[in-house]
Amino acid sequence: MKRIYLDHAATTPIHPSVKEVMRDVMEDSFGNPSSIHHFGRESRKRLDEARMTMANSINANYESIIFTSGGTEANNLAIFGTAYANRNKGNHIITTNIEHHAVLHPVEQLEKEGFDVTYLPVDEKGMVDIMDVKKALRKDTILVTIMYVNNETGMKQPVQMIGNLLRSRGIPFHTDAVQAYGVEEIDVEELKIDLLTTSSHKIYGPKGVGFLYKREGLNLTQRLYGGEQERTWRSGTENTLAIEGFKKAVEVLKEERTKRYDHYKQLSERLIQALDEKNVEYHINGDLSTEHRVPNILNLSFPGMDVEIFLTNLDLSGVAVSSGSACTAGSIDPSHVLKAMYGEDSPRLRNSIRFSFGMDNTVEEMTLVAERIEKIVNRLSSNV
Ligand SMILES: Cc1ncc(COP(=O)(O)O)c(C=O)c1O
Repeated sequence: MKRIYLDHAATTPIHPSVKEVMRDVMEDSFGNPSSIHHFGRESRKRLDEARMTMANSINANYESIIFTSGGTEANNLAIFGTAYANRNKGNHIITTNIEHHAVLHPVEQLEKEGFDVTYLPVDEKGMVDIMDVKKALRKDTILVTIMYVNNETGMKQPVQMIGNLLRSRGIPFHTDAVQAYGVEEIDVEELKIDLLTTSSHKIYGPKGVGFLYKREGLNLTQRLYGGEQERTWRSGTENTLAIEGFKKAVEVLKEERTKRYDHYKQLSERLIQALDEKNVEYHINGDLSTEHRVPNILNLSFPGMDVEIFLTNLDLSGVAVSSGSACTAGSIDPSHVLKAMYGEDSPRLRNSIRFSFGMDNTVEEMTLVAERIEKIVNRLSSNV
C-alpha cells in the first residue's frame, strides 16, 4: 500500500539538503558560540551567518532576530514579554478566537494575572474584520496578536491593514507567521509588523528551532535568565546544529517558494476536482480563492462522517491527514477554529479534515486519495 502524507501543516520531513548540512555540522563544528577560542569563534561565525539569512528572509535587521526553540517559545516570548514590559502603560490585549494554542494559552494565562483580553470573532470564511480590530482598540491596549495564516483552514488574515492601523496608533503588533513563512513573501517593514514568529519544522527544517523577529527599539521583558545569549532576550546555549539546518531550509525555500506555491495550488485543485468526479459530498471550511488563503492547506467537511472514525479509516488506507491542530497532544477536541466560524452546534466541528500538502506529493496521489475517501465514505455511510 502506498502511504500518502498530507499533514505538512503538522510537520514537514527534513529536506535532503538540510540533512546534508546538519551531518556536516555534526562532524565539523561543535564549539560554543560564547567561547572566545577558535572553536567558539567558528561556531559564532556560523551563527551570525544564520541570523543574517533569517533577517534577509523577512527584510529585517540582523539585530532583530532572536533564535528560540520554535514557534511556541517565540509566541510566549512575544506575548508575555510585551505584556510585562508595558504593564505601566495599560493592560488590554487583543487577539482572535482562531489563534493557535501557543497564542491562546499565553493570553489566557495573562487574563488570570489581571490583563484584560478581547477575543475578536471571525466570519464564516475564518477571517478577522479590520473594523473589529479598530473598534476593539482602547487607550490602554498594549498588544495586538493576530495570526498571519490559520493552521487549520489556511485562511490569511489582513495583516497589512492591521499593521498600518496599529503603527499609526503606536501599538505593538505581533503575528504568528508559523504557517505563513513557508509560502508567503514576508516583508516586516512593508507589513509594519513589530513581532513575528516562525518555526523551522514547518518549512522542511529540523524540529525545536524557530525565531522571533523583534523590531529594534521595541520593549520586551525576557522570559529566561541565564547566560544572556541572544542579547539577553533568550538565555541558553544556542542550538547551533538545528539553527544551521533551519538556515539551509530557509535558503532552499527562497529558491523554491514560487515553484512550491504553484505545486500546492495544483495539488489542492486536483484533490477538489477528483472528489467532484467521484461525487463525494463535501463543504469547504474557509474560502477556495487563493487571494485569501494559502494553497497548501485545505479543510473539508464531509457530511455524515465522524472525524475520529474517518481519520482512523484514512490512516488504515494509508492516508495521513489530521482533524486540525495536531498540537493538542494527539487528542481530537472539537476545533475552536471551526467553532468560531460556524458556531458550537455545527456538525462541521465533528466531520472536518485538514489536508496539508507538501512538495513531495504528486497530482496522481490526489486521485488516489479521492478514491480512498470515496470508498470510506460509501462504506461508513452504508453502516449508518
Ligand atoms: C500557527 C502555529 N503557531 C505555532 C505553532 C507551534 O510551533 P512549534 O511546533 O514550533 O512550537 C504551530 C504548530 O503547529 C502553528 O501551526
